[in-house]
Amino acid sequence: MNDTRPIGIFDSGVGGLTVVKSLLEQLPGENFIYFGDTAHLPYGNKSQAELFQYAQDIVEFLLQQDVKAIVVACGTHSSITLPDIEKNCPVPIMGVVKAGAVSAVKATRNGKIGIIATQASVNNGSYRKHIVSLGDYQVFASACPRFVPLVEAGIFSGAELETAVKEYISPLLEQGIDTLVLGCTHYPFLADAIASFTGAEVTLVDPAVGTIQELAAILNQNNIKNLAAQGYGRFYVSGNDQSFFQAGSLLLNNMIQQVEKICFD
Ligand code: DGL
Repeated sequence: MNDTRPIGIFDSGVGGLTVVKSLLEQLPGENFIYFGDTAHLPYGNKSQAELFQYAQDIVEFLLQQDVKAIVVACGTHSSITLPDIEKNCPVPIMGVVKAGAVSAVKATRNGKIGIIATQASVNNGSYRKHIVSLGDYQVFASACPRFVPLVEAGIFSGAELETAVKEYISPLLEQGIDTLVLGCTHYPFLADAIASFTGAEVTLVDPAVGTIQELAAILNQNNIKNLAAQGYGRFYVSGNDQSFFQAGSLLLNNMIQQVEKICFD
């Protein structure tokens, strides 16, 4: 059966577009609806209660759009709200943390894995828990609060970014990591700047790749794949639509034609 219903994808802003990029590469026939919660950006410093409210509103909105599956394209929500929201979700729902952890343990040679993520994700420890559940690994984590505002502003290089990269990642290199998980979906957009600091001996893991592989398996198991040659994407935000459009267009090579603003209250 050919199921043309869209996939729902959400994040605080443009970060989840790294997951959209992987979707376009791996499952180009799937339609998708993307929600950027720009009114509440950044998520990294929000309380659990706030994050639960946002997740509930967004999932409800996506379900109203008749999505067939939901990808939580956000490390923070995948860590904090997903374990609860998946209990009552009527369609398959998945996040990025499990795929990131699996990719990291495949990549490491010395068993020392670094995680960079939002403060909320680091405090929650979800990446660490997933990784140590997979075997005997040492995990070192660092929160990078200055990265998300830079990505949202479309800044992917320059002195300000280099200073932040050095500050956040030096302590992890000192621990001898050979693998670094980009544990917030905004961070793969900074991969070039991060890689030029860490050097080729550290493997960077973008959880988006494994996330979409996992999504493909879920669509297969549930017999809800779309076999079309080319899908459509629709983009919604809760706050600033202009900056989303500008940064998003840079990130997705101008594929965003229109961004619609949605208010939940
Ligand atoms: N991109 C999100 C994440 O993966 C949220 C970042 C933020 O808004 O602080 O955690």
